[in-house]
Amino acid sequence: DIKGFAFDLDGVLADTARFHSQAWQQIALKLAIPWTERLEAGIKGIDRAASIALILNSVHRYDEFTAAEINQLMQEKNQIYNEYITTLTPKDVLPGIYQLLVELKQHGFPMSVASASRNAPAIIARLGIADFFTGIVDPAKVSAGKPAPDIFLEAAQILELQPAQVIGVEDSSAGVASIHAAGETSLGIGPEAFQAQIHFDNTAELSLTSIEAKLKSLH
Ligand code: G6P
Ligand code: MG
Repeated sequence: DIKGFAFDLDGVLADTARFHSQAWQQIALKLAIPWTERLEAGIKGIDRAASIALILNSVHRYDEFTAAEINQLMQEKNQIYNEYITTLTPKDVLPGIYQLLVELKQHGFPMSVASASRNAPAIIARLGIADFFTGIVDPAKVSAGKPAPDIFLEAAQILELQPAQVIGVEDSSAGVASIHAAGETSLGIGPEAFQAQIHFDNTAELSLTSIEAKLKSLH
């Protein structure tokens, strides 16, 4: 039985995936690397180092760059991203999410945040939803990012639940793979999360009732 929820942040709780994308696009532009749909989808859910590797490898060979150059690019991206997120307020919580968090809390489901982002605690605070969560996974403490299971396994541990008792909520392909590798039930949102066991087109469709209805048809 499902006892708790692990939420991805960017693209699930808030519309911050576009900020990551815009910030990386600026880095790509600077390097004269064309921005493609493959990059747009590929960077979702994966950590900073994996993102820059994907972008550089789309044109160059990653090993043409020194570690210092790569660090510099990651820092620049994070600076641009941090400027974007200073504009975030509780209004930027995606449609339906606040109501869902209230409903899940009322029904006694513990919740955690399973994001690869080191900026997650600051964003969750800005959105005004920190109190809903038992904890936020610290990606600095897990050895492998998504699609590896580590982040979603840690999210289950925070909830003090077995992975099989947890629903992982994701918008990215790497994130859904991470949920599956962790042995949790996957709830996907949007076109890139189509491999999820239960799927919604957008966050506005989420409620305990709609989730339970889709869970039933799984068994
Ligand atoms: C999330 C986002 C990714 C981002 C990663 C690292 O998983 O979906 O786009 O690259 O977090 O975020 P950070 O804020 O630490 O650079
Ligand atoms: Mg995401």
